[in-house]
Amino acid sequence: MAPSARTSPGGRHPPPLLDALSDRQLVTEDGRVTSAPDVINLGRTWVELDLSALEANVRDVVSELTPVPLMAVVKANAYGHGALLVARCALAGGASWLATATVGEAAQLRMAGIDAPCLVLGYTPPEHALEAVRLQLVVTVFDLAVAAALEGAGARLGTTARAHLKVDTGMTRLGIRPEEVAGFVGATQGMSHLCLEGIYTHLRKGQDLQATSVQLERLQAAFTFAEGAGHCFRLRHAANSAAWNHLPEARLDLVRSGGEILGLSTADGRRRRPVLTFKSTVAQVHTAAPGTFVGYGDSFQTEAPMLVATLPIGYGDGLRRGPVTWDSVLIRGRRHPLVGDVSMDMAMVDVTSDPGIAPGDQVVLLGRQGPDEITVDEIARQLGTINYEVVTGITARVPRLGDHR
Ligand SMILES: Cc1ncc(COP(=O)(O)O)c(C=O)c1O
Repeated sequence: MAPSARTSPGGRHPPPLLDALSDRQLVTEDGRVTSAPDVINLGRTWVELDLSALEANVRDVVSELTPVPLMAVVKANAYGHGALLVARCALAGGASWLATATVGEAAQLRMAGIDAPCLVLGYTPPEHALEAVRLQLVVTVFDLAVAAALEGAGARLGTTARAHLKVDTGMTRLGIRPEEVAGFVGATQGMSHLCLEGIYTHLRKGQDLQATSVQLERLQAAFTFAEGAGHCFRLRHAANSAAWNHLPEARLDLVRSGGEILGLSTADGRRRRPVLTFKSTVAQVHTAAPGTFVGYGDSFQTEAPMLVATLPIGYGDGLRRGPVTWDSVLIRGRRHPLVGDVSMDMAMVDVTSDPGIAPGDQVVLLGRQGPDEITVDEIARQLGTINYEVVTGITARVPRLGDHR
């Protein structure tokens, strides 16, 4: 790639965005190493991941967990961060397994050449079994029809289909009850192309010692029922980010973690290095006279002269419009309030307090800029939701870039 231009035509100062990024090396989701001009092409609005922080988070978790292996959960595009970037980085940091919610998500990893063991955590319809086995995925089962479809797929492809049995121990979400485990393993005993290698549950409140102990007791009962039916599972797992740290007995043979390695705060109150920054750019600055409408409808009208910056980001990118939206964004290291309703592709900001703000300035919606930081937790509180939903809500059209700082 040609070296990035440091000055704009006419010898003026480089635009701030180019200036800020041109010395940095970034990686796109498809694994290309890129530099600033590409970022500008890609990035009216984009997500930047601090891959060094992500890898360090994974290394720390792996070393604290040793000898128990780590399964990095990268479902829903790695909670909006970019599944390929996160999966590669997690594996580089020492994760042994990956997990997705669907066969389609796992197929995306396989198509990118990622061949690590991968568990599909969610519902797999029987008609997806053949593809799952062809991609050498491990499928969650709780239904004999799916087990039979996996057996059929294994026979057809001349291989063994791998599955983990999901047990519902107190969440009423997915899984069979512990007392149904003996019947399930008994019914699959004749399936010579199916290996029921794992058994697991999900914790509804991993940070809570009492609730989790009850769930672990039920899981233990499920192991006993399976053994009684002559089946011994090689991999037993339960813990997520919120549970493994303060409840060592929940670690068993594998720990599944998503939020913690991504630097999101966990329900038991810990937070590792932050990884994600959600960025946009100032597209235009307007000088608005008193009485000027801003955005759709009549929701906002200026009372005094105002400098209004238009940002090329909207609810089509994950900047929620309602019932409440972000309070403010960072430009030139300071907070500036959003004004008017967020549109699908654009939003407006009152920048009257800094007349120096100009087109091309970088905008931070989540993350640090200068002395200030807008945290995912802060936005979650404001939107009335949890941190996971805020980042998972960043939509598919937003490019994800990895940055080795
Ligand atoms: C079944 C299952 N296991 C593990 C996880 C990972 O949870 P966390 O990101 O809180 O570690 C999830 C995430 O929702 C999940 O659904």
